[in-house]
Amino acid sequence: MPVSKRLRRSTHAFLALLAIVLVVPVSPARGASISLEVRADEPARPISTELFGIFFEDLNYAADGGLYAELLQNRSFEYSATEQAAWGPLSFWDLVRTGEGDGHVGLGNSRPVHVNNPHYLLLHVTKAGAGVGVANRGFDQLPLEAGRAYEASFFAYQAYMGVMWGPGDQTKAMPVTLRLEARDGSVLAEARFEISGRTWTKHTATLTPTRSEPEARFVLLAHEPGGVALDMVSLFPRDTFKGRANGLRRDLAQAIADLKPRFIRFPGGCLVHGTGVRAYYDWKHTVGPLEQRVAARNSWGYHQTMGLGYFEYFQFCEDIGAAPVPVVTAGVCCQHAGHSPGRGQEGLPLAEMPGYIQDILDLIEWANGPATSKWGAVRAAAGRPEPFGLKYLGVGNEDAITPEFRERFAMIEAVLRKKHPEIVVIGTSGPFASGEDFDNGWAFARELKLAMVDEHYYVTPQWFWDNLARYDTYDRAGPKVYVGEYAAHEKDRRNTLRSAIAEAAYLTSLERNGDVVRLSSYAPLLARRGHTQWHPDMIYFDATRVFPSLNYTVQQLFGHHAGDAWVATRLADAPAGVKLAASTVRDSASGDLIVKIVNGEPAALPLAIRLAGAGRLPATAQHIVFGAADAEAVNVDGAPPVVAPRSGTLPVSENFHYEAPAHSLTILRISGR
Ligand code: AHR
Repeated sequence: MPVSKRLRRSTHAFLALLAIVLVVPVSPARGASISLEVRADEPARPISTELFGIFFEDLNYAADGGLYAELLQNRSFEYSATEQAAWGPLSFWDLVRTGEGDGHVGLGNSRPVHVNNPHYLLLHVTKAGAGVGVANRGFDQLPLEAGRAYEASFFAYQAYMGVMWGPGDQTKAMPVTLRLEARDGSVLAEARFEISGRTWTKHTATLTPTRSEPEARFVLLAHEPGGVALDMVSLFPRDTFKGRANGLRRDLAQAIADLKPRFIRFPGGCLVHGTGVRAYYDWKHTVGPLEQRVAARNSWGYHQTMGLGYFEYFQFCEDIGAAPVPVVTAGVCCQHAGHSPGRGQEGLPLAEMPGYIQDILDLIEWANGPATSKWGAVRAAAGRPEPFGLKYLGVGNEDAITPEFRERFAMIEAVLRKKHPEIVVIGTSGPFASGEDFDNGWAFARELKLAMVDEHYYVTPQWFWDNLARYDTYDRAGPKVYVGEYAAHEKDRRNTLRSAIAEAAYLTSLERNGDVVRLSSYAPLLARRGHTQWHPDMIYFDATRVFPSLNYTVQQLFGHHAGDAWVATRLADAPAGVKLAASTVRDSASGDLIVKIVNGEPAALPLAIRLAGAGRLPATAQHIVFGAADAEAVNVDGAPPVVAPRSGTLPVSENFHYEAPAHSLTILRISGR
């Protein structure tokens, strides 16, 4: 445990201990008030301004079929049975024969569009009829909106005209049609092309459907006997988030932006380990022209196109004002790799470590180097000459702290410390809140004098109430903390109000300890209905709708009401064990004082609030309450939130009474102007 034996009896530890609550469910005696004292007259403690961020991991179809706005599934014909046994390069594509047309499809690999993208589809038309081609229905469904522009594109070359190995006029062009079709086969939008020549050529068109259709088909038809090679067949809505080409689904990205996250950790989690020691998530495979990226099996058992790659992640961070926190492996694979739970960790051969470390240095150059540098030029070629300003780098994720891990991590860390002392390297402390890997991870981090350590815990709501004091005694002189993955897990893994309120209580303890806890992120972030591998998640979605959870609302409220200094906040006279937590922060930009009160009890709690030394107080404060009597409340997809924050005003003075409602988070925002 990273608890300093040398902990000085500092004032803040003393205040923190006063703010802790014990945990036996007892209600206050009728009429008696619990005292909540906010000491604005005492020195405020500066806290992290990046405390609340997000962790994006590509699981639950979070990227392809999720945040990444590509509408077609298996656009590059790289699906494989290693991802799902029933999948292959032609999965999710159907042969279409219209009129009297006839033909078939095949799989090509002899003349790929790029060596990184080995497979392509060969469309053979033996009898043109009204057209022979292929169709794609997207991820479960392909929803189209009337009047909305969609950018279609594909790479193609003409393989032959007429009969393969037989007669045909090879000087002719192959006429091709792209269509968006409704379920009844009617055409909603169409574009025509001519394919000639043996060079892969990109073709594009903007298609605007005349009517909305929830389950459309994207159809590509050839109209003469002959053969055409096709790859990177794609359809994007034009109005992606911020209008970015190759961009993100607007509604999902907006839901994320609405959290006001101060940073984004990506691309995982377990995902960064990949599937084996050399099959880790390689950032270099995810940048550059789309057709040159290296698609891969996602370690969660599906396909990742890498269309949402490092450039897109960094760009999204910038678009929403969040700091990028990429994570790379520590030169070892997951201890559960190779179908060997707990025994699968392997290290890259030491001879390969210098090359691997160079890849990490290249990442920093790609992100921060001038456009004239080798990797800065790759970034610039993607349209971003200015550096991104990377300052954090996660190394490792929940690794078993073995000699193999230590050796490789230390090699990486030593080079980064020497060549990039400006980068904050974030170490790892295993998958749990305590235990062997946790202790060893922290001891190792202290030994290396790491700047920050990533902690993960998925635990019960009660655990959060029981551990409000966790960080009060952490050594302020040691590595700082990133609570990189956490969530309150009910037995049945539902996103109940109880879980959200327990997290809210915990977040007040992170605010109180925002001097040592610098970053935190709920996990996981996104989950597509029908492809959810992990519960609970913060935001669920389907092809057209976004379903934020109650846990989302808590994150959003903290994101919107964060501060940069913690103001001494003391609870007293609370019956032992009452589930009550509070914190106060000052936002120096607005001057506002923000008091948060979390009641985890099934009854309202009467509070006598004292705002000491807060100066001239306004007559009222902004008053936000998020809560309900039913701790079991859960949002239902498509229905209005079962519990939503209510906002109004509340009279405030130096001393006033307040009843914190059952199962609630209250925010009192007292204007400093
Ligand atoms: O968040 C889901 C998974 O939980 C992450 O990939 C991993 O780091 C943790 O075990």
